[in-house]
Amino acid sequence: MGRYHESPPVPRAFFWRRLQSLMGLLLVIFLIEHLLTNSQVSLTYGSDGIGFIHAVNGIHNLPYLPVIEITLIGLPFLIHMVWGIKYLMTSKQNAYGTDQSQPTLGKYARNHAYTWQRITSWILLVLVIGHVTQMRFIYYPTSAKQGAETYYMIPVSLDDGIYTLSERLGVTLATKQQISEERKQVDSPQLSAGSPAESLTGFFSSISEVFTGSQDEELEGKEVQQLLAAQKQHQKESWVEALEAWPLKQGEVVAIAPDFGTAELLLVRDTFKSPLMLFLYSIFVLAATYHAFNGLWTFNITWGLTLTARSQKYMRMLSLLLMFVIGFLGLIAIWGSYLVNLNQ
Ligand code: HEM
Repeated sequence: MGRYHESPPVPRAFFWRRLQSLMGLLLVIFLIEHLLTNSQVSLTYGSDGIGFIHAVNGIHNLPYLPVIEITLIGLPFLIHMVWGIKYLMTSKQNAYGTDQSQPTLGKYARNHAYTWQRITSWILLVLVIGHVTQMRFIYYPTSAKQGAETYYMIPVSLDDGIYTLSERLGVTLATKQQISEERKQVDSPQLSAGSPAESLTGFFSSISEVFTGSQDEELEGKEVQQLLAAQKQHQKESWVEALEAWPLKQGEVVAIAPDFGTAELLLVRDTFKSPLMLFLYSIFVLAATYHAFNGLWTFNITWGLTLTARSQKYMRMLSLLLMFVIGFLGLIAIWGSYLVNLNQ
């Protein structure tokens, strides 16, 4: 009896197709969040990207951020990409020409969409890897503490706007020479206070001044002073190491930002001074928004959510609207950052 009620096992290929598709939806949500955040670099003219700074700091301060990043972004990307590559290798497009085994059917819009979903997959594969390598690994801000405050460092190239913007954002710019002065000071702590390095940042405020102590009589005295001096020296060393982590080229300085979001803002601004980056990131945004929202439309069919011609028509309108709005916000972040909002 029971045998007739047993449902057949889900075929493996079906399971992976559905998982790849579901991960695609997570990536769409992430893309919307990411481009909404980025657009604030330049959406409000004259704001110095304060909305972006707040949003990035909010994300950066989330508890268990690495766990969130891995489970909600890293793994979904990996699954979607690995299985995506498999599907790309086995897919057959017929919008622009075939291997002659089937007719070329360029007159159907959906055939073109199918082909472009696959073309944008290859573009995204290259650009996503390049983007993550650039922003998460090569140019991830270094950080060091001064007392209880953490500062974030990133290299930037000099231009007229950077001085005034830095002043408004509370950012200090350290030249190569100033960094080597700091190094000398750390290596020979007996150097007097008030040296060029000291005046560069004014960050080396005495920790013992901050120490309000005296809850416990025993904590006072020489031993405590030694502990505090050792901690201060250790902080100075870490500070100089964080500055020296950036091998500066001609015309570059290290920007010392009071928070992570500000460092990221300066990184974005610096990136989009380059015409090559403007071009590559524009292609990236266009490919990602096309792939994501054409994908959102097919996702709804894949999962049986839009089965009638009417519901598919409405979903197409919604997907197109999202494609244009999110695409526009992505492009504004790229073209508005250095060229408009952050160069006064
Ligand atoms: C911005 C990043 C990405 C987003 C937001 C995204 C989103 C999506 C969505 C929503 C779908 C539709 C799923 C369905 O129809 O059920 C899809 C399909 C697809 N994606 Fe992506 N994707 C991204 C990156 C990539 C990358 C890097 C690859 C390259 C390997 C890729 C390969 C594919 C393939 C091959 C399909 C078609 C699967 C099929 O139905 O046969 N995607 N994507």
